Amino acid sequence: MNDSSSALEFVILTLFPRYFVSPFSESILSKAQAKGLVKVKIVDIRDFAEGRHRVADDYPFGGGEGMVLKVEPIARALEQVGRDSPGPMRVALLSPQGQLFSQELAQELARQKKLVLICGHYEGVDERVAEHFIDQEISIGDYVLSGGEAAALVIVETVARLVPGVLGNPLSPGNDSLAGGVLKHPVYTRPADYSGRQVPPVLFSGDHHKIDRWQRKESLRRTRSRRPDLWAKLELSESDQEILAEIETEERERGGQDEPDSKN
Ligand code: ADE
Repeated sequence: MNDSSSALEFVILTLFPRYFVSPFSESILSKAQAKGLVKVKIVDIRDFAEGRHRVADDYPFGGGEGMVLKVEPIARALEQVGRDSPGPMRVALLSPQGQLFSQELAQELARQKKLVLICGHYEGVDERVAEHFIDQEISIGDYVLSGGEAAALVIVETVARLVPGVLGNPLSPGNDSLAGGVLKHPVYTRPADYSGRQVPPVLFSGDHHKIDRWQRKESLRRTRSRRPDLWAKLELSESDQEILAEIETEERERGGQDEPDSKN
């Protein structure tokens, strides 16, 4: 058991608390909580709404489609969250208008003590929440979800696995796809021969230097061919430049095809 005061605490404000029951009781997230490395608290925004019907949303001023989440229940819920565990907290509203979530942002969030994620719903959230109660808005991608719940799950899962001790192998996050701005190399397991499709022989060589170099080469090859946006930002070391020269020679020999077609 870890000292729970050093755990990263996620607090999720939502209108749909039951949405999170199953994902947080499975696999790595459940183990991380059991080990005391991560705490997850789900807060029902409706508990902070007024009146017998606990109405948390209302019609938009000026007209328009759908309902808008009200400012007061969210403000009251945040006050309660602050009282429950005092100390610094990072508050993010999940919305398609936010900063795009990335591995880099996940690394920054993993260094926080307490991360509060507000799930927007319906047609939006009263703008005064964004103006007065949050540190940032986060979007998980350029598409529109019905609410922020799926986005909160994505963020919790991505950030939690970066907390030291959550993954069994301490080297694992560094080896992730996108760690260091490149895609992960291909991986294989048994059988070594599947219907005539062979695992690259270098992986049986036992030569770790050679294997590392092959993995780096395949990472660079994939990143260059699949993600020109990442490739453009990459700073290549001298050894990377040598590897790139090899890739280019291989391409010329193959006639310009930089990644073999995976289906053939
Ligand atoms: N809510 C609706 N769409 C979203 C998105 N793309 N990211 C975060 N929250 C959202």
